[in-house]
Amino acid sequence: MLDVQDITMRFGGLVAVSGASLSVPKGAIVGLIGPNGAGKTTLFTIIAGFQAPSAGRVAFGGQDITGKPAHIRARLGIARTFQIVQPFAGLNVRENIAVGAYLRHARRADAHARAEEVARRVGLGVDLDKPAASLTVAGRKRLELARALATEPLLLLLDEVLAGLNPSEIRDIIPVIQAIRDDGVTILMIEHVMQAVMNLCSHVHVLARGRMIAQGAPRDVCADPAVIEAYLGKGAAGRIEAGEASDA
Ligand SMILES: Nc1ncnc2c1ncn2[C@@H]1O[C@H](COP(=O)(O)OP(=O)(O)OP(=O)(O)O)[C@@H](O)[C@H]1O
Ligand SMILES: [Mg+2]
Repeated sequence: MLDVQDITMRFGGLVAVSGASLSVPKGAIVGLIGPNGAGKTTLFTIIAGFQAPSAGRVAFGGQDITGKPAHIRARLGIARTFQIVQPFAGLNVRENIAVGAYLRHARRADAHARAEEVARRVGLGVDLDKPAASLTVAGRKRLELARALATEPLLLLLDEVLAGLNPSEIRDIIPVIQAIRDDGVTILMIEHVMQAVMNLCSHVHVLARGRMIAQGAPRDVCADPAVIEAYLGKGAAGRIEAGEASDA
């Protein structure tokens, strides 16, 4: 469904993403992990069309969309959430979600009906009339998810939707994400919460300092020495192994 080829993104002298490639098959939940500043959000920004890459190509459903602006990509079926959630504070939950629904429903009543349906799917059904500003962090994350889902995407890009949630809130939202996939939406998710990555993702790509350093099943990727070193520093994998050997 999504094919990202050799993307490089330079900001002045900084190379945020360097020759990164990944693909997402239809119907999958694929993870994108990596240390802070690795370039994950930058890659999402390029996939969604908010910024043009310095080099490389993005294909969606077999079509090259590299030159297409974000609103055309949204129409084609790509939606993203933002790592820093910013709901329209003056609008209530229903109106916030309807902003996404207007992409495919021009009439207010239709957009609101769609928003209500999406709200129920993400567990915000009882909050429809509340001001968005009154939601808890967990509520705002669900709202961010709902706004993207209301555009009726084929591919949903989730940028750390679980960040800032406590363990029980994470447990509650995992089945919501699974249900979205079961309804036919393909998902690419950036996530630091490894419990969620293990539970949800069939395949994981690892970005470190702008480069893809590993990919595979979540369990294999987490045991990969290159991945452990990217997170914990050079030699960490060897130290962990030596520690385990001396424990035994
Ligand atoms: N618009 C920009 N202009 C200049 N530098 C940028 C811009 N956007 C991102 N960067 C830089 O690019 C690098 C990658 O940032 P990015 O936000 O993509 O990382 P990330 O993997 O999403 O990190 P995190 O896990 O902290 O969210 C960082 O060094 C960041 O400061
Ligand atoms: Mg980020």
